[in-house]
Amino acid sequence: MAKVFFTCGGSDANEAALNIARTYTGKSKILSRYRSYHGSTLGAGNLSGDPRRFDLETPAAPGFIKFYDPYVYRSEIEFKDDAEASAFYLRQLEEQINYEGKNQIAAVWVESVTGANGIIIPPDGYLQGLRRLCDKYGILLVSDEVMAGFYRTGEIFAFNHWGIKPDLIIFAKGITCGYIQLGGVIISKAIAEFYNNKVYQFGLTYSGHTLACAAGNAVLDFYEKENIREKVRATGKVLGELLEDLYRKHSSVGNVRYIGLFSAIELVRDKKTKEPLVPYAGDAKGVMKRIFGALRAKGFSTYGRENNINISPPLTITADELRAAFLILDEVLYSVDRGEF
Ligand SMILES: Cc1ncc(COP(=O)(O)O)c(C=O)c1O
Repeated sequence: MAKVFFTCGGSDANEAALNIARTYTGKSKILSRYRSYHGSTLGAGNLSGDPRRFDLETPAAPGFIKFYDPYVYRSEIEFKDDAEASAFYLRQLEEQINYEGKNQIAAVWVESVTGANGIIIPPDGYLQGLRRLCDKYGILLVSDEVMAGFYRTGEIFAFNHWGIKPDLIIFAKGITCGYIQLGGVIISKAIAEFYNNKVYQFGLTYSGHTLACAAGNAVLDFYEKENIREKVRATGKVLGELLEDLYRKHSSVGNVRYIGLFSAIELVRDKKTKEPLVPYAGDAKGVMKRIFGALRAKGFSTYGRENNINISPPLTITADELRAAFLILDEVLYSVDRGEF
């Protein structure tokens, strides 16, 4: 990678990357996934797949096309392994690329590990295959690491688990640990060189603001000094064990997904049929809101979307603190099992 364009957060970093992807390729179509969130501004909102985009789509901005996530738990197919699952989702995407016009697509946009929409971890081989697919058709691969970046998953960026290199990397949140507004786009060498002879027509008054960058540098130093990467890997193991334990114990826990300190519990009405506890974009009775409220009342503060409880504790959490917090979660999940919400 060659350069960074700094922004004030994640949404404008996605806007900046949209501008780069379209200008650099001269193409307009962007493929992103249904279970994704990339921000609330016009471009980033249309890029997002989750229901928060619906209010922005009045009308929807042209050129934004959605594809299916490698959401193995919710697949109709029982894949025998990750390789088979990856091949299936990549074949499906390649078909869509062809239907959309293989020469018309500027970029494929992913959260390498999906954040707000339920910590969807791609099967092994998926991201490597996605990289190959993008190279085959001259499409840019963009990874939005706003949630998953800066050691949340036990690597600086989540895609590092699979050894791929995107063309654009979007970051925010963890760069300053959320204390000061800072985000940005990391740009590949080839794209940076393109801009050596062309002015980048995307300006922000506060791009590269000294205060924000000072906070970013201080946080990066802290991550290194505290050896956060190794800490997250160690506590992430404990988190995984605690989640597996909840899966075994609770009839309402359909699936647990975790990588580093990035995890989610998917709540269901029935473990066998996998019927979600609340319908997609249709929790009219506020069931999930009440569950989050019950957790918060007992001192466990978190959030999630749809039928997921996301659990992404501070990177500095200790194993004992995690265990104590999970006692609260365990108790509330028994109430969910009994249908009390
Ligand atoms: C993956 C991802 N991208 C982009 C954004 C938008 O970032 P911001 O809220 O800083 O504009 C978010 C925010 O939650 C996010 O999770």
